[in-house]
Amino acid sequence: MKVTVVGAGAVGASCAEYIAIKNFASEVVILDIKEGFAEGKAMDLIQTATLNGFDTRITGSTNDYSKTANSDVAVITSGIPRKPGMTREELIGINAGIVKEVSTNLVKHSPNVTLIVVSNPMDTMTYLAHQSVDLPKHKIIGMGGALDSARFKYRLAEALDCPASDVSGMVIGGHSDTGMLPLTRLATRNSVRVTEFLSEERLEQVKEDTKVGGATLTKLLGTSAWYAPGAAVSALVQSIACDQKKMFPCSTLLDGEYGLKDICIGVPVIIGKDGIEQIVELDLDEAEKAKLHESAEGVRKTNGLL
Ligand code: LAC
Repeated sequence: MKVTVVGAGAVGASCAEYIAIKNFASEVVILDIKEGFAEGKAMDLIQTATLNGFDTRITGSTNDYSKTANSDVAVITSGIPRKPGMTREELIGINAGIVKEVSTNLVKHSPNVTLIVVSNPMDTMTYLAHQSVDLPKHKIIGMGGALDSARFKYRLAEALDCPASDVSGMVIGGHSDTGMLPLTRLATRNSVRVTEFLSEERLEQVKEDTKVGGATLTKLLGTSAWYAPGAAVSALVQSIACDQKKMFPCSTLLDGEYGLKDICIGVPVIIGKDGIEQIVELDLDEAEKAKLHESAEGVRKTNGLL
């Protein structure tokens, strides 16, 4: 399994690090446009191999896509991150051009690649990747829901005063402050619905904290987060590499599922060696359906800026 990570910034580096530490990939190539930057990150990371006990070969390159040839999976993290007070949607002007060029170059050298799009605004960038390259739709995956769901579980665990490993839950919808739909009705603590433990008001708070999860970190850090985004990407890459068939909410091109068409938005999918192997249709209640469609309208508005 050869994995390329485009963008050696904080998210790309953290993603490469988690993939390496989990030791399931034979090779990771890191690419960046800044001269020597990816080479430096790769060298620093590979020097942890004997300390962290992994065998993954890690190399870096300054924008030489021939080094990425025949990648099985490629992660696109390139572009600018948001600054405090910015929405993800405000990044579209710069990031659209970058994602279009990067995805085209990747597929030119790796025609059978599965793309994971991380750059923001992520749902629109995933849609743009579909328009830019000739890949089957199950081979383009937008990473947002896996991250938002991890943040949701963190907030639920905080409210329940229990470890996050006791909690199960998903966030669907757009990867934006207003578009996320944390599914509190379906979330459980070890198979018991969280609604049994938490009041409606407390669950509303969990929802709101989850939706601004990225913005809260951006305010604290001065730039967007990297550990959880990197870990979320590495979980998706591992599910492909090891054909785990795990279920994550991911941004995928819908063709009638959930009553939506010609849009990439977060819904639960099964991720295995072929990328998105199945779209899971949840039995949403009327309010949830309405929220998902409202979220889709927001994503369509951003798509209209392409
Ligand atoms: C975040 C970015 C990666 O939510 O969108 O942290």
